[in-house]
Amino acid sequence: MLKWGVLGTGEVAFDVAYAINYVSDNKVIGVASRSAKNAEWFANNLPDAKGYPDYDSLIQDPEIDVIYIATPNSTHTDMMRKCIAAKKHILCEKPFCLKSEEGQEIKALAKAANVFCMEALWTRFIPATQKAISKVKNGDLGSLRYVKGSFGHIFSKDRCFNKQLGGGVLFDLGMYLISLTYPILGKPDGYQFMPTIGKSGVDVQSSFTFSYKSGIIASYHCSFLNDLENTIEFYGEKGILKLGPPFYRTSKIQFDHQATNSNTAEKSVRKNPYGYPGPMQSAPYFKERLKPILPSSTKISSHSFKGNGYHYEIEEVYNCIKNGQLESTILPLEHSIQVVEIMNKLYASNTVS
Ligand SMILES: NC(=O)c1ccc[n+]([C@@H]2O[C@H](COP(=O)([O-])OP(=O)(O)OC[C@H]3O[C@@H](n4cnc5c(N)ncnc54)[C@H](OP(=O)(O)O)[C@@H]3O)[C@@H](O)[C@H]2O)c1
Repeated sequence: MLKWGVLGTGEVAFDVAYAINYVSDNKVIGVASRSAKNAEWFANNLPDAKGYPDYDSLIQDPEIDVIYIATPNSTHTDMMRKCIAAKKHILCEKPFCLKSEEGQEIKALAKAANVFCMEALWTRFIPATQKAISKVKNGDLGSLRYVKGSFGHIFSKDRCFNKQLGGGVLFDLGMYLISLTYPILGKPDGYQFMPTIGKSGVDVQSSFTFSYKSGIIASYHCSFLNDLENTIEFYGEKGILKLGPPFYRTSKIQFDHQATNSNTAEKSVRKNPYGYPGPMQSAPYFKERLKPILPSSTKISSHSFKGNGYHYEIEEVYNCIKNGQLESTILPLEHSIQVVEIMNKLYASNTVS
């Protein structure tokens, strides 16, 4: 039995604690808060947990094997330092840290202390996401040309707008777009960042674009101000692969195969789907214009999605610890650190204030 402790009593802590108990041979036995009352309330909502009136007493408890850190972004590094010093395995909420150097420090400390450590980027473990990543990597789309993604919801939570707590929409939402496409695209060669800075001094919506020496362009938008489309799309030589909406909680992958065969494209044009006047349909330039936007076939594949989706990352932690691994092969620490470094570069490149 893997015995878990949870640091923090916020929204995501509760969802993930529930998911931990959902996975067999895993159980939350402790919850810590800055307030004894909060810890007690949270623990009373779980079958086998007790509350700790401060974070340190949970971290020091020899009964706890692995600690899930669900406190604000700016606290992650310090919490991880303490957990490693107490020889606890770690699952730490995203973003892994605020500065890539801190990530490198944690990676070295965890390795030296022989403890498992992983970022809780749960979406990387969803079956449809994993399948989409492997399809694009394996060349199912032919050569990849363009990636686009958006992640936006209307947020009002204090910590998201608080600079001291590591707020900002790039750290909170944009990072999912970078992290999900990182295994395919790797580190960008060029960066462009356009944030809107809100009253509290953090970015409340941001557009950012990456370019790669291969010629690929990736373009993203994230927002606390609007619900966005919340999809990630990969455009390749053979078609378009789409995750979502919403990409973070999906069981489906859509693949729009694009015809390279002119007969198929002509059939699509004859259907005149946009209601253009008849004679226009046969104009050669018009056929050419329609060709790229008319899929010759759309295939939707279904993949398992159970529970609230957070248990997939818990299964990964459990399997890695059971097998004596110090890192996940699906989400190694270097991936998490590189994603932080990319965000550091974006923020550093911002000339708008
Ligand atoms: N994986 C996901 O889907 C997902 C979703 C949302 C958020 N997150 C990440 O999870 C972390 C927590 O997010 P959340 O939305 O759950 O936040 P939240 O609801 O604001 O809760 C954060 C908790 O952290 C504790 N805390 C410790 N030090 C604090 C401080 N100085 N100020 C405020 N709270 C402090 C508080 O618990 P006590 O008062 O009991 O100590 C609070 O309940 C963030 O890093 C975030 O990026 C992940």
